[in-house]
Amino acid sequence: MRNPTHVCRDCGATAPRWAGRCAGCGEWNTLEATTSAPRASSEATTWALADVDVSRLALRTTGVGELDRVLGGGLAPGSSTLLYGEPGVGKSTLALMVLLAHASRGSALLIAAEESLAQVARRARRLGDVPSGLEVAAVTDLAQAADLVVARRPEVVVVDSLSAMNDAQLGGASGSVSQLRHGAERLSQSARATQSSLVLVGHVTKDGDLAGPRALEHLVDTVIRIEGDRHGSLRILRAQKHRFGPTGEIGLLEMEGSGLRDLPELAITCAEATSGVVLGVTRDGTRSLVVEVQALVVAALSSPRRVAHQVSGQRLALLLAVLEARCGVSTAGCDVFAATAGGLPATDPGIDVALALAVASATQGFVVRRDVAALGEVGLAGELRVVEGLARRVREAARLGASTVIVPAGADLEGVDGVRVVRCATLAEAIGALTSRFAVGAVE
Ligand code: TYD
Ligand code: MG
Repeated sequence: MRNPTHVCRDCGATAPRWAGRCAGCGEWNTLEATTSAPRASSEATTWALADVDVSRLALRTTGVGELDRVLGGGLAPGSSTLLYGEPGVGKSTLALMVLLAHASRGSALLIAAEESLAQVARRARRLGDVPSGLEVAAVTDLAQAADLVVARRPEVVVVDSLSAMNDAQLGGASGSVSQLRHGAERLSQSARATQSSLVLVGHVTKDGDLAGPRALEHLVDTVIRIEGDRHGSLRILRAQKHRFGPTGEIGLLEMEGSGLRDLPELAITCAEATSGVVLGVTRDGTRSLVVEVQALVVAALSSPRRVAHQVSGQRLALLLAVLEARCGVSTAGCDVFAATAGGLPATDPGIDVALALAVASATQGFVVRRDVAALGEVGLAGELRVVEGLARRVREAARLGASTVIVPAGADLEGVDGVRVVRCATLAEAIGALTSRFAVGAVE
């Protein structure tokens, strides 16, 4: 193909000439003009691989434990990382925390394209002491920003945000795909040249559309999404692309008055044992996370409703049917609400047993002890099935204080100790075990 002259605003596909419709995604009127500078050819050099200095690969810890975990240790020198999420989720806060932590031992630069210096300074003071090694420039011009990186050679540099940067020569509005791509390319080049670790802050559009990040994905080394409900405090970091480590890893943070705090494990909210509350263990990335599954079942005033929050609505419907048909637990004529406490999404089938038991507990009024966790998937015949990472889930439940775990009969839990294992073949059996032995007030 000839050099691309146009790029799709939605999917990032390139085209050799303007067209009404993008050949990549089929959307209309999304192609924008792009300019790609001709590459100057220069002589390449070779190195003896044995002589190549690997000290340049030493990762720079970010000072935020959960971010380091997602990055596999820290930011690589010369690398570029896209940090993106919805407005207000905490991107600027997290990026500033990384700079503040780094500035106390090295050089750090913030290119503030959205906020004034005074706004940045106020936020920084809210987060703690501001080391003198942290420099800031209020710049939106791309060339100026790239030159600053080259001139200051900071070890860590944050551009907040990439969407607000603009290259006047390129034309087009800030935030258009061609501006974003050009900006990411230019800034990454500067960071590579100076061995700076570059963090680009990006936005997702209001409908959660990933077009922007997808168009940038191949231009950066790492893509980290920060998600969370603005009205809740839990924030989840996910590595969606990572050239220097595993993807799919997640980090847990909590937004507080003085910034984001590491939350390596989830707090359990209900102090008292209550009906409708059962501990389960979900898996996300490579992590097992203990979650409190809650259900509420009340007589419906009009047509019965099923409301699932942070758990799968489809799994809830299936479990209600299994409870009715296989266990004699009927929720007909009732509103059923199900959720996880703390706002952690728990949509994997491994949470089925906890969810079904929470509904049974809410319907029948028995109260499950707080030190009992239930794990596994429920099949349509009412049987309990083994799920991926079961032994690891059990270990995590035990680590967080569970004394008893209810698991599918076929579970292979070799090497797991310190916890009483109750094997159940069916959901009906699990309900029987709970009510007769592990409900509050039951005599074992
Ligand atoms: P911000 O980092 O500005 O989000 P983004 O850059 O993704 O748009 O964070 C926005 C919210 O976080 C805002 O509602 C205020 C809140 N916040 C805290 O709760 N504690 C803090 O220490 C800071 C700095 C912000
Ligand atoms: Mg911001």
